[in-house]
Amino acid sequence: MQLTDEQQAVLNGAEGPEMAQCMDTLVRYGSAFKAPRLVPIKSAHLTGSFRISSFKAYYEIVERLVAAGLRVKVKTTLNPRPGYDFSLQNRLVLKGQRRHEDNLEALGVTPNYSCVSYLDVNRPEFGDILGWAESSAVIYANSVIGARSNRNSIMVDICQAVTGLTPEFGLLRDENRGGQVRVKLEADVMDAQALGFLLGRHCVDRSPVLDHYPFSVAELKNMGAAMAASGGVSLFHVIGLTPEAPTEEAAFLGRKPEKTITITQDDLTAVRAGGEVQSASKIVAFGCPQMTLEEAREVAQYFVGKRVKRRVLFHLMPSALREFEQTSLFRELLKAGVEVHEHCPLAAMSVRIGLGKQQVLTNSGKLYYYLEGTEYGDLDDVLKVCGVL
Ligand code: F3S
Repeated sequence: MQLTDEQQAVLNGAEGPEMAQCMDTLVRYGSAFKAPRLVPIKSAHLTGSFRISSFKAYYEIVERLVAAGLRVKVKTTLNPRPGYDFSLQNRLVLKGQRRHEDNLEALGVTPNYSCVSYLDVNRPEFGDILGWAESSAVIYANSVIGARSNRNSIMVDICQAVTGLTPEFGLLRDENRGGQVRVKLEADVMDAQALGFLLGRHCVDRSPVLDHYPFSVAELKNMGAAMAASGGVSLFHVIGLTPEAPTEEAAFLGRKPEKTITITQDDLTAVRAGGEVQSASKIVAFGCPQMTLEEAREVAQYFVGKRVKRRVLFHLMPSALREFEQTSLFRELLKAGVEVHEHCPLAAMSVRIGLGKQQVLTNSGKLYYYLEGTEYGDLDDVLKVCGVL
């Protein structure tokens, strides 16, 4: 990899051993992917917002960076909190959470605690180079905004934030931004989360190009998150909707698709659990990725004047929750018996000791994929199980 004189000096220790180690990590990471150089990033996004004992080495490195007085060089946002107060077990498992948060804030990270930063305090523009982790954010930035980020890991993300650099390979390069799989849609009733779940499975790490469909912002956000979870997809195009796909030819960069698949209504339906299985759920969870204010308002309306029949959890972006709390709809939701949180449902419910083997039902394709003991239903399904439809 070719480094500038300035980058080489940092690697040689001009800004201290900790910064040199961060630079070395990026050089090794980039070399593994044959990146020719390191390029500046507009912003960073970190996934390591929780403190659990199995990531001990990561926290030690963060502490060393803080002790060395390093600060992030670009706007850097942070994934959701893990639900420290969600259960007693979480308090035990997440011991040290406060200290970790203090460390990240000492590095200059924006404490927004959301995986949906791209609709909030970290909004990239078309063509921006980013050093983001969090697969659901990376796929949205690439696909819906036309910014460029690889799917970076925890630790690499923090090295990018403090150096302000990322290796130039993968989705940062023009030639890798074309679609690879053509996706025909044969469904009258769209279920974007189920579609995302299926596309991750079918495409694995290839980029799908979907028929035109007028997906909403929330659908694009949730569909992408599901695709990036059940597969390793980091870029999708929707013909005539997403910015790099004005036409089918443009979406494929003039190349032929590697394969064509068709997703039918039956395929979407098959992702949903059967009625009896759904009804056996003890918990219903909304919001993975966290709900925006618009999503919360839309779903909350069904709960007005009702009383839930299960434990029902809403998970919102913290900034959205602050606004939502000012509304009468929020008070109606609480009256209906809904719990409203701002943490990550996956992190919070991964410790299932307190919840026992209680089955969770969700309309999130991502949560369905990642959280053990979870079933999937579309919005109508889950509202029915909540007892409000
Ligand atoms: Fe966000 Fe947590 Fe889901 S980080 S995408 S709410 S798993």
